[in-house]
Amino acid sequence: MPMQRNTTEDDITAEALQRFAGTQDPRLRQIILGLIRHLHDFVKEVELTEAEWFQAIGILTEAGRMCSDKRQEFILFSDTLGVSMVVDLLSHRKPDGATESTVFGPFHRLGAPELPAGGNIAHLDKKGTPTLVSGRVLDLDGKPIAGALLDVWQAQSSGLYDSQDESLSELHMRGKFRTDAEGRYLVRTVRPVHYPIPSDGPVGRMLRATGRHPWRPAHIHFVVSAEGYEPVTTHIFDRTDEYLGSDAVFAVKDSLICDFARREKAEGDAARLGIAPPYYTTQFDFRLKPAAEPGATVLDAQRRLAALGAAR
Ligand code: BEZ
Ligand code: FE
Repeated sequence: MPMQRNTTEDDITAEALQRFAGTQDPRLRQIILGLIRHLHDFVKEVELTEAEWFQAIGILTEAGRMCSDKRQEFILFSDTLGVSMVVDLLSHRKPDGATESTVFGPFHRLGAPELPAGGNIAHLDKKGTPTLVSGRVLDLDGKPIAGALLDVWQAQSSGLYDSQDESLSELHMRGKFRTDAEGRYLVRTVRPVHYPIPSDGPVGRMLRATGRHPWRPAHIHFVVSAEGYEPVTTHIFDRTDEYLGSDAVFAVKDSLICDFARREKAEGDAARLGIAPPYYTTQFDFRLKPAAEPGATVLDAQRRLAALGAAR
């Protein structure tokens, strides 16, 4: 009697798993078998129709077409589905006193200028309120790390990143800062604002169809790295923001929330830098843990984006 093949949906799952079972690389085998199992279970659980399957293909195709050196719709899908933060948590699980990480997001760009302490990343932003962000980069024992690099980026006070703003052809709201001998850094910017993530593509349609808002609470992005330490990709958040409890990308961690204090008198750094009141100050110390592999100081995030074809 001829063998009966693929008669039920579970037969097909079993057959697909068996075909991949000979994968040589053990990690690849684990990933591909897990993917087949979960993907098949998902399709069976929701009884996906052909029309819905085809719609999903259309959504992925559109997401791919939208990707460019300035737009990463797949990262946006991962972020808004909560996947990026699960991966982030799994990768940085230990509560070891190091600064907690959070999503990288799609708006980092390579080539931000290196600026001196107190350099202004918001020199073209005339509407935002001046803000000084200061603090130190420390090791896990609290010892200062001199020469650490802080790669900083932020949305303008209009709520747009430079890459979304058609009136801008240059990099803006971006800078790289080095810590001094005491591990100190000082960034001049404007107070961050909450802003909606891009919603003119399939991710936006998903949010609208599911009754979700697109807002991210006010924040400033950092990748902090130093020779011999693990780089951390993170943000600092404004404690007063109304979207802290419902960030569209699930990225808020309590340890990253800061107080932005309003100042009415030009004193200290503000006076030296010629900043007229009112302005805000906030402080945050970054703590880095030693690198797992010695010499692994290249910014992973930058390498990843470069591999995706991001503009330099
Ligand atoms: C951002 O903060 O730049 C961001 C992060 C995730 C998705 C969209 C934007
Ligand atoms: Fe952002």
